[in-house]
Amino acid sequence: IKPLRIALAGLGTVGGGVVRLLDQNSALIARRAGRPIEIVAVSARDRSKDRGVDLSRFAWIDDTTALATHPDADVVVELIGGSDGPALTLARATLGAGKGFVTANKAMIAHHGLELARAAEQANTALKFEAAVAGGIPVIKGLREGMAANEIARVYGILNGTCNFILSKMEAPREQGGGRDFADVLAEAQALGFAESDPTFDIDGVDAAHKLAILASIAFGTQPAFGTVAASGIRHVIAADIAEAAALGYRIRLLGLAEDGPYGLFQRVHPHLVPISHPLAHVTGATNAVVAEGNFVGRLLFQGAGAGDGPTASAVVADLIDIARGEYGPAFAMPAEALAQHQAADPGER
Ligand code: HSE
Repeated sequence: IKPLRIALAGLGTVGGGVVRLLDQNSALIARRAGRPIEIVAVSARDRSKDRGVDLSRFAWIDDTTALATHPDADVVVELIGGSDGPALTLARATLGAGKGFVTANKAMIAHHGLELARAAEQANTALKFEAAVAGGIPVIKGLREGMAANEIARVYGILNGTCNFILSKMEAPREQGGGRDFADVLAEAQALGFAESDPTFDIDGVDAAHKLAILASIAFGTQPAFGTVAASGIRHVIAADIAEAAALGYRIRLLGLAEDGPYGLFQRVHPHLVPISHPLAHVTGATNAVVAEGNFVGRLLFQGAGAGDGPTASAVVADLIDIARGEYGPAFAMPAEALAQHQAADPGER
């Protein structure tokens, strides 16, 4: 049986998790995928860093873009991040070479998803990004496959673990370590490895906007359009806001929300007052949760770890298993040409 051979770009938190997962669960993955999945080549900035896994068995490639044409690799996994730069160069080169491409890069998919989906379709290969939205929660699959038969009215949720971690620490009672200063809690989220390398992306709602643009595209069959997400973050939320909300029966959550209305599809990210009776008010810590409303299935709630090495690696390897099985369709909910016909409304038009 021919293994599926992987070239891996980026060995940070998630990259290390992917190596560990493929090692630890190799036998069950081979059974489920119908063939083994093996890393053959890696590329990372720092070769000497101890990642707690044996990397000496892989070919080390200095030029990341060269992974795209590595003769032994069938699929490239990109875990470098960044909407442009080396990640985008690698994506274009890989799909151009007709190989499958798996990424956790929400910024790149939110900005260039349509172009990359077209390239994948032209090459008749896979573009997969389950790990780009809500970490380990299979929400792309849930919307794209599980809700494929439904008209979706609205999709919304907690899409940034760092902000949810900060808000839930701020709202906790003092005796439970709550009521703390914003900067202090942010430093803790960074130390735990949830925060983006530029944490303003978390705090100002940009990261949630990237993820929302991807979800909205899948839910509504529009092209991913980060530029039309109206986003603001939690920078200006203070302890008094949280206390006032609580007194009125609400909690503050940073939500991304996309809905189809009379003027078209609107996408926005901002702090919301969530009634205490709503399940999202009870999602605390670095957890993510997504609610999607379909006209036949009703309201679905997807909840779980939105960041971290294990959960994110779980989503990356699930995509690899789909490719190993030959089970993949268009990257979004429909072929790229159909997506290109539909754009989200500009918030300025409202
Ligand atoms: N910085 C992101 C978060 C990581 O806090 O949710 C996962 O995308």
